[in-house]
Amino acid sequence: MSGKTIKFRLEQLNKEYNKRGKKPIVFDFKSASSNLLEGDRNYNQHIHYIHYYPGRIFPYIPFCLLSIRDFMHLDGYLLDPFAGTGTILLEAITNPVLKRNSLGVEINPLARLISKVKTTPFNTEKISQYADEIITLNKDKKDVSNYIPEFRNRKIWFSNNGLKKLGRLKYAIDTLEVDTNYKDFFWVCFSSTIRKVAKADPYIPPPVVLKPEKYKNNPNKCQYLKQHLKNAENPNVLGLFKEAVDNNKKKLDLLNKFNEAKEGIVGAEIIWDDARRIKKAYMGECGRIDKNSITDLPSNSVDIILTSPPYITAQKYIRTNKLELFWLGYTEKEVNDFEKASIGTERVQKDSEISPLSIVSIDSTVDYALSISFERALMVYKYFMDMIQSLKEMYHLLNREGYLILVVGDNRVLGKKVNTYRLLADAAAQIGFIEIVTLKDTIRSRSMMTKRNSTGGLIKNEYIVILKKRV
Ligand SMILES: C[S@@+](CC[C@H](N)C(=O)[O-])C[C@H]1O[C@@H](n2cnc3c(N)ncnc32)[C@H](O)[C@@H]1O
Repeated sequence: MSGKTIKFRLEQLNKEYNKRGKKPIVFDFKSASSNLLEGDRNYNQHIHYIHYYPGRIFPYIPFCLLSIRDFMHLDGYLLDPFAGTGTILLEAITNPVLKRNSLGVEINPLARLISKVKTTPFNTEKISQYADEIITLNKDKKDVSNYIPEFRNRKIWFSNNGLKKLGRLKYAIDTLEVDTNYKDFFWVCFSSTIRKVAKADPYIPPPVVLKPEKYKNNPNKCQYLKQHLKNAENPNVLGLFKEAVDNNKKKLDLLNKFNEAKEGIVGAEIIWDDARRIKKAYMGECGRIDKNSITDLPSNSVDIILTSPPYITAQKYIRTNKLELFWLGYTEKEVNDFEKASIGTERVQKDSEISPLSIVSIDSTVDYALSISFERALMVYKYFMDMIQSLKEMYHLLNREGYLILVVGDNRVLGKKVNTYRLLADAAAQIGFIEIVTLKDTIRSRSMMTKRNSTGGLIKNEYIVILKKRV
């Protein structure tokens, strides 16, 4: 084992934490991560961003957490049940001190696809060669109307030229005869061009019809958006795609510098879609989980669960990516189902009932929401029910000696600040976890935050809750 570790002792932190009445201990992850880097070693932050996605975790947080000395005997599997775009999975397989095999679960197929591509070593020469083949196929005079997906308001989001050009590129990638990993690389690049050619407001994560006049108080922005709409009438789809291929190729080449990952000694795998009931199945092209290949994941089989769970109604992950999902071959019904299965969704069944969960902090938050609106209360209640279900799965899968680490922001629910981390820690305690310590890091910004929902609020702190199974 070489490289620097974070040397604080969890036992000591636990004593201090209990002594101060469970007040989170402030810890600056950003500077701790700079101290961990040695010599000219470059941190792999830049590999992380191969496709936009809301609510990603800052890579330096898992980088630090996975470098804690007290975790160094835990060299088995890491699981991220809310894997998003695989930031934690990638940090696990590339940690300078200890590289761990990692497993991911994620409801959004686009995020699953990005995670997979980001953690797969590629031969970049092959990527260049295949990209040339795609460009040649793109010139085929074939009718590609079958490759243009059907979805509601298609003409609102894309111009005729946009639809035809995207259809042609989709045909070219689909026709390319290469193995699925390479195809998936190109699907990520394809997907990352979708919003650039759509007539949707680029400043708002979920697609909203772009109206440049809305920004008339900011003439530069307004002008830029007018140009965006103009470009969308006859977009340079192939040019944008080539740009994405070049950028992503360079980023993924960095993964080849991590030998264990390159040689397949350590790797990451997306195994399932829903954190509320975790199984294992094969993931095919475009992030599709093959439900005919299900096996069980044994209990006590993972050493570390490190995850940043979704917040209550804070990010609309599926809605944000719906246009990309349609183009990647998912139907409207499927996209609807992903949204319904997403934890923290606003889509709740209105005729459901609310009954106390016997966790004081959660019940009082639901009561507060009830005093405002039954529908909002249902959303809050459903969120915690789903999170409790997921925490139970985590409890079942975690090794007795292992650790569960939740990275959670504080957010607002109906105008009231809610310490979601405390509520989740209380839920975990009821399931059988003990809280070792909670660290607090102040965050400076967060990618593509949803600011539109006036009661959604901004997330300012990140809480890192470290738990163990009660024995
Ligand atoms: C805070 S994000 C995680 C971001 C990730 N750490 C990253 O850096 O990209 C939470 C994720 O949970 C996913 N999610 C929501 N409901 C889920 C469920 N039922 N099962 C699995 N994942 C779910 C969302 O789609 C979202 O990607």
